Amino acid sequence: MEHLINTRVKNIEISGIRKFFNLVNEKNDILSLTIGQPDFFTPEHVKQTAIHAIQDNHTSYTPNAGILPLRNAVSEYVKELYQLDYKPEQVLITVGASQAIDITLRTLLNAGDEVLLPGPVYPGYQPLIELAGGKATYIDTSNDNFKLTVDQLEKHITPKTKCVIIPYPSNPTGVSLTETELRGLSDVLKKHHIFIITDEIYSALTYHEDHFSMARIEEIKEKTIVINGLSKSHAMTGWRIGFLLAPQWLAPHLTKVHQYNVSCATSISQHAALAAITNGKDDPIPMKQAYLERRDYVYQRLKKMGLEVIKPDGAFYFFFKINSELSSFDLALELVNTVGLALVPGDAFGSFGEGYIRLSYAYSLETLTEGLNRLEDYLQRSKR
Ligand SMILES: Cc1ncc(COP(=O)(O)O)c(C=O)c1O
Repeated sequence: MEHLINTRVKNIEISGIRKFFNLVNEKNDILSLTIGQPDFFTPEHVKQTAIHAIQDNHTSYTPNAGILPLRNAVSEYVKELYQLDYKPEQVLITVGASQAIDITLRTLLNAGDEVLLPGPVYPGYQPLIELAGGKATYIDTSNDNFKLTVDQLEKHITPKTKCVIIPYPSNPTGVSLTETELRGLSDVLKKHHIFIITDEIYSALTYHEDHFSMARIEEIKEKTIVINGLSKSHAMTGWRIGFLLAPQWLAPHLTKVHQYNVSCATSISQHAALAAITNGKDDPIPMKQAYLERRDYVYQRLKKMGLEVIKPDGAFYFFFKINSELSSFDLALELVNTVGLALVPGDAFGSFGEGYIRLSYAYSLETLTEGLNRLEDYLQRSKR
């Protein structure tokens, strides 16, 4: 019967990251710098709020778009942090940023529509684009320090382009775009009937400049959808709380898809999220400080090894090349087999990631030190 299932589902490949883990999972004594989530625990007061929410019987369906106090709080939170003006009715509480991306794509795309993606990029977008009937068109940013440029954007727009995903700070590259760079892109986009999905899930983790949201730009705000959430900012990946900010006219359409998909985000997590962005508004600060210290440590170690690396502006990843004849997948396997170090092969982030390796620094300094010693050991061996 397998041949009868939905063709789009059949055509989706399992992710490159998963393939890699299937191969390395059985091995012992592997030190992994692969994780894509904070290594901190959810703040204690957030956990306590969730416990109380259960005890107080906040355990039934909530309004589809989320409980009003939380939507109010999100509206104030994004105003204070990113100077964004969104009324509570323009806020939709979702099941992680992932579901926010999914419902946005399903709301916007018709069969055959193209979605522009600056690659290498988070592997979660393409399957969702395809499930929604669209086509992912990658733009190679590897020659532009992994930044989407005006020229490249202009070159890739076709009559079929329905939207572009602007994913900064970036997973896997750690690169972000400045206000000037984003304004440059918006000058192009305002001339076209193209939607902008700006995935800002790492906005709380920027190290050079404060995060600038694309939705600050008035000329394009009416066709921009902001994706954000608490997974990375508050170490809450398992609570599955994202939020979506949308133009007033679009929010009811997004809510329809959301409603028939999940009814609402988990009631208990919504109460926890409310604590996180009100009393816990500053919770991300010490975590960011720790990531910054780790980033600087990893950067100087990689430089000392003679590797060419971009110092990341945000998130918690390094994306770099190791001189080798091997494909990034085989190189990552060789690292596992020779020095017991797991890093993610760059091709997991699309073909423009080929030749690169992603290292996550969402680990203690001790673990990072050991991992980097192993990498250094590998590089010494391969010189011989
Ligand atoms: C760029 C990017 N967007 C979205 C997500 C999904 O976030 P969530 O766990 O909130 O669904 C991730 C998770 O790693 C990510 O890296």
